[in-house]
Amino acid sequence: MNSEILHQNLAAQLENIVGRPFVFTDIETRQHYGHDETEDYNFPPAVVVKPGSTEEVSAIMKLATEYKIPIVPIGGRTGLSGGALSIHGGIGLSMERFNKIEIDEKNLQAVVEPCVITQAFREAVAEKGLFYPPDPSSQGSCTIGGNVAENAGGARAVKYGVTKDYVLNLEVVLPNGEVIWTGANTLKNSTGYNLTQLMVGSEGTLGIITKIVMKLLPANTHNILMLVPFFRAEQACEAVAEIFRAGIVPSALEFMERDAIDWTLKYVDGVSLNIKPEVKAHLLIEVDGNYPDVLFSEAEKIMGVLEQFDIDEILFADTEDQKNALWKMRRAVGEAVKSNSVYKEEDTVVPRYELPTLLKGIKSIGDMYGFKSVCYGHAGDGNLHVNIIKGDMSDENWKVEVPKGIREIFELTVSLKGTLSGEHGIGYVQKNFMDIAFNNTQLQLMKGIKQLFDPHNILNPGKVLPDNL
Ligand code: LAC
Ligand code: ZN
Repeated sequence: MNSEILHQNLAAQLENIVGRPFVFTDIETRQHYGHDETEDYNFPPAVVVKPGSTEEVSAIMKLATEYKIPIVPIGGRTGLSGGALSIHGGIGLSMERFNKIEIDEKNLQAVVEPCVITQAFREAVAEKGLFYPPDPSSQGSCTIGGNVAENAGGARAVKYGVTKDYVLNLEVVLPNGEVIWTGANTLKNSTGYNLTQLMVGSEGTLGIITKIVMKLLPANTHNILMLVPFFRAEQACEAVAEIFRAGIVPSALEFMERDAIDWTLKYVDGVSLNIKPEVKAHLLIEVDGNYPDVLFSEAEKIMGVLEQFDIDEILFADTEDQKNALWKMRRAVGEAVKSNSVYKEEDTVVPRYELPTLLKGIKSIGDMYGFKSVCYGHAGDGNLHVNIIKGDMSDENWKVEVPKGIREIFELTVSLKGTLSGEHGIGYVQKNFMDIAFNNTQLQLMKGIKQLFDPHNILNPGKVLPDNL
């Protein structure tokens, strides 16, 4: 069957499953669902379908298996590793009709559908006095399902953990259409292999997640937020490990290089800061809890640590508006960099004490290969986002030299006992660096898992695992 007829036939059968209003083959819709936030890529699916129930997802999966056609789950399309790109065409499975939340206040849990916007979920539980900590910067438009698929983090991960730490149980549709639950709705579970955590971070390559049981915490009531200017960027990184060694676990500990702040201040409205020209980096530090006295003494301890470094005056945010403005600025760094230049985003992560070595290494690799980088991220987790700026670099250098430099950056992170991605995933753009983090034995185990779940390789093919495996 030629592909045109195949796709017409497929679209007709998809219409039988979900109804005509939920199947799209026009180029505009396909392009809309063909991109996420990864560089400037666009890989439109041949057809976009929007199922409304687990049963419909199951029927679609059976159809995809029958036709051996690729199928890619699509959420908020805010990903930075290309996980939602339909690189082989096929079916783009937009989960946007899965948007319900059920909060179980008795157990401090919630059952969430995958296309609930993360911020909407955080706000819904907050109304009940509860707390869902993971807060990726894209929380206003990313989805809980995407967060689970990528094991997303965010600023609060340093104290509260990442998405995986909240997922208790998942309803999953397998490529053959079967529907399973991966575990139990319990806080503890040592019953067999952990299928729940295997699905978390599997980037839509093993099954389609249709329901998520999340653990919640009671909300806390107070926090203190401070912005600390450093005259040397490496010292800002050195201070990070010292804060923990002084016995404090901040609820956020974020690093921003000078360019990250300068570019962002130009990009966002309503935030202004007076930064001395000699300042090279900032730490944004938050402590939270229920007892203001405890928080004040923690803040004092942190200031005691910071005094050992070459810093300018600390800004304490003393109103909610000021706190919101600082967080708005921090969350906008990625977008601000993107608006400035074509760039490549690396999501390096190392044990936190190695952060100064990583930063220094990245800068010297940049010098060697002729690229500028803007670094920022979750310093408390040792998780540094490295944005490599194209600027006026030639296309030739961008395509040939920069990937060599990226390989060296990853080799450095792995030599420091770190790895390729802390929270953005591997997806399409980092898969051919996986050999740096894993040897053939490890990669074959992963390939075996993929084959077991998806023997026909229809589910998000060409992601996570390297091409030549
Ligand atoms: C951030 C996103 C890019 O930290 O992970 O802003
Ligand atoms: Zn981040």
